[in-house]
Amino acid sequence: MPKNVIEIKHPLIQHKLTIMRDRSTASGKFRTLLKEISLLMGYEATRDLPMTLKNIETPLAEMNAPTLAGKKLCIFSILRAGDGLLNGLLELVPSARVGHIGIYRDPQSLEAVEYFFKGPQQLSDRLSLVVDPMLATGHSAIAAISHIKSKGARDIRFICLLAAPEGLQALHEVHPDVTVYTAAIESGLNEKGYILPGIGDAGDRIFGTS
Ligand code: URA
Repeated sequence: MPKNVIEIKHPLIQHKLTIMRDRSTASGKFRTLLKEISLLMGYEATRDLPMTLKNIETPLAEMNAPTLAGKKLCIFSILRAGDGLLNGLLELVPSARVGHIGIYRDPQSLEAVEYFFKGPQQLSDRLSLVVDPMLATGHSAIAAISHIKSKGARDIRFICLLAAPEGLQALHEVHPDVTVYTAAIESGLNEKGYILPGIGDAGDRIFGTS
């Protein structure tokens, strides 16, 4: 297993994930749980953000109080399932910039096909969090990260709910500098590139489509 993978084995995350895995969990509940997990994972993925001090006045005294330093971070959602993680992270860091990358998997080749990109300029001095609930073959994550690197992004973390070992390996081979945060490392992929045991199609589960 690549070393820059952080599996967050928090009891609350694992409990919520089990409910999400259950096929009988409805999409409203599924969305709520994914958002709650994104808050817990976001807490971990941002724990070493650089800080600075700012002089403020409380109602009682002046103080030098800690505050986030540097440029605002950017959250890139890989459409469409990434939006299930994006919303919670944006609540955690409301000042973050947001980018969207539209990528679908060609059902035959399982290769990533990009159809949309919109993100902030000036990525070189921002932390970029790329989010997609499923790291399966790794093709979408690799394509998304390659694109934002071509726009100058240097400090990149990838947040997913579930990761297949194949996807972790593939991502690490192309982007060894990217740390991956995941709630669980799964057994593998089926012949259609779905993660086992997994949660099924993340987009369908989030949005109630099929
Ligand atoms: N994308 C999904 O939505 N689910 C998987 O299991 C793999 C990729």
